[in-house]
Amino acid sequence: MRHFLDLSDFSSDQLRAILRAGEEIKARRRTPEAAGDRLLEGKVIAMIFEQPSLRTRVSFDVGIRELGGSPMMVTGQEIELGERETIADTARVLSRYVDAIMIRMLDHDAVVEMAKYATVPVINGLTKRQHPCQVMADVMTFEERKGSIAGKRIAWTGDTNNVLTSWVHAAGRLDFELAIATPDELAPPPALLDWARKQGARVKLTNRPEAAVEGADCVITDCWVSMGDEEGTRHNLLRPYQVDDRLLERAEKDAIFMHCLPASRGEEVTDAVMDGPQSAVFDEAENRLHAQKGILAWCFGGVAA
Ligand code: CP
Ligand code: NVA
Repeated sequence: MRHFLDLSDFSSDQLRAILRAGEEIKARRRTPEAAGDRLLEGKVIAMIFEQPSLRTRVSFDVGIRELGGSPMMVTGQEIELGERETIADTARVLSRYVDAIMIRMLDHDAVVEMAKYATVPVINGLTKRQHPCQVMADVMTFEERKGSIAGKRIAWTGDTNNVLTSWVHAAGRLDFELAIATPDELAPPPALLDWARKQGARVKLTNRPEAAVEGADCVITDCWVSMGDEEGTRHNLLRPYQVDDRLLERAEKDAIFMHCLPASRGEEVTDAVMDGPQSAVFDEAENRLHAQKGILAWCFGGVAA
């Protein structure tokens, strides 16, 4: 079964093939050749959301329709996800109705459980631990602007969260350097860094945002309080990790700025950076649509990898 749950499950060749498929479908969009991309004709894809979403919700909905399929929105609340029946039974029942399941649910293990019992592909639309669709779109965005990510320096400043974890997984596969700056209290778990080391990934950790950003080709941050987080002391700890003009100036002159959005302007990033010439944030949002078409194509056997 072709589940898309975790970037570390994939080889670099597979990730490259999925990205290429997304890029090719993007290039054909709204041309007569797009008629050949209706890979989901006659298929229904359930989109289950336990948490709010703009990009994931709309980009999957539009992407599924453009590939000829029918999206079906189901909220976690209406099915009392994980409460009314077991995740395994939910997976078994859904598999009798629909052709694939895209799910956003904080409990990563529950999503893995869903995939274990589903007899149709399951796609991770964000868990507390990972956000693999986002990082596929981010790599696509980076490469559109700056060429191959291999050999480049990517800097992350801020919290350790789901998006960063998927970036570490990507660094283990796509041969770029990842310089991470987080406060010591919010540093990545040792097991994630050990995994990266074992892959031979060039992942570096510091608590100084200036050091991570120095010479970077891309600077990335994300919100300080992710879905399911307690506020606690996060604002105090993370304030020095804000991306402003002064920090961005330390990166390469033509570096780009990325953020998965939604952004809390004035917290992790200033308006000047978000709206400045180096910002690629809205391309990133658009590329969710294209990268996910590559992922859907892979799930349905339309990508040979
Ligand atoms: N970046 C992202 O996943 O956005 P949404 O939460 O709006 O889907
Ligand atoms: N890290 C953020 C990403 C939102 C798309 C969160 O989990 O809330």
